[in-house]
Amino acid sequence: MTAETLALPRKKRELRSHHFDSTIWNHFNFRADDIIIATYGKSGTTWMQQIISQLIFNGVPDVDVSNMSPWLDLRIPEAHIKLDALESQTHRRFVKTHLPVDALVFSEKAKYIYIGRDGRDVVWSLYNHHANGNELFYKLINETPGRVGPKLEKPTPDIAQYFRDWMDKDGYPFWPFWEHIRSWWSIRHLPNVMLVHFAQLKENMPREIEKIANFLEIDIDENKWNDILKHCSFDYMKKNGAKTVPLGGAAWDGGSETFINKGTNGRWKDILTKEDNERYEQMAVEQLGEQVARWLATG
Ligand code: A3P
Repeated sequence: MTAETLALPRKKRELRSHHFDSTIWNHFNFRADDIIIATYGKSGTTWMQQIISQLIFNGVPDVDVSNMSPWLDLRIPEAHIKLDALESQTHRRFVKTHLPVDALVFSEKAKYIYIGRDGRDVVWSLYNHHANGNELFYKLINETPGRVGPKLEKPTPDIAQYFRDWMDKDGYPFWPFWEHIRSWWSIRHLPNVMLVHFAQLKENMPREIEKIANFLEIDIDENKWNDILKHCSFDYMKKNGAKTVPLGGAAWDGGSETFINKGTNGRWKDILTKEDNERYEQMAVEQLGEQVARWLATG
């Protein structure tokens, strides 16, 4: 994949999911300083949105992140609503996507931040997201106009089985995992692309935020550094997620505190069997190769 081919208009691409309309990217007018946050999902998207909002707005609390930074390729709300809202923004824009890079329009003008997370941690987070979805959650997903794919049902109560189904049917009941990682990894060398790992962000958030600020060419205001760190911390986000989490958390029982769940990795260690782990690790190597599998697993 080259930057040139990635910049071509996109045909509609169905991703075995009710969620996406990838063609919206054909209508997005890129600006020179746009920031695109890309993840498979459940990999720290909201955390990165908060970090970037804190860098842009210099540590002020209560930035309206979820409205300001829409999931562009989600089928709802209608494309023109999101495109118009983004067009009217006068500050530096930051947009969220869950598409593989070859399904969106890639601009050399924008800066892309991709976050990776071990697939097992992703599933543990996804299970919380899915199992605590309320009536609104199912309504939004199952009644979205133009949706494809089977009706989303409540998940099995057995999280290990949920993981096995996700493995067996690559990303089931959501979208494929491995191609997502592969696609973004393949362009990591481009100067306007930065890869971050959830585990590294967790291990040393100040160091990672400094790297992100450097990549985005944002000077950190020393006087606001403590505020920035505080507003991006797990404890702060857990308690103050109403403006950061999608829909203010309205689609989940327990609201934004459910969405900002545990913020930890490895919760699968005591639950998955040795065979489950061996199978995951083998599949990661088959699908991604040794180098990428290692990056994804260890951070
Ligand atoms: P868990 O469900 O494992 O707790 P996304 O925004 O891509 O949906 O990712 C959500 C995951 O990021 C959740 O993981 C959530 O708790 C975690 N997260 C959000 N903000 C965080 C923070 N400040 N520190 C650590 N984890 C955070």
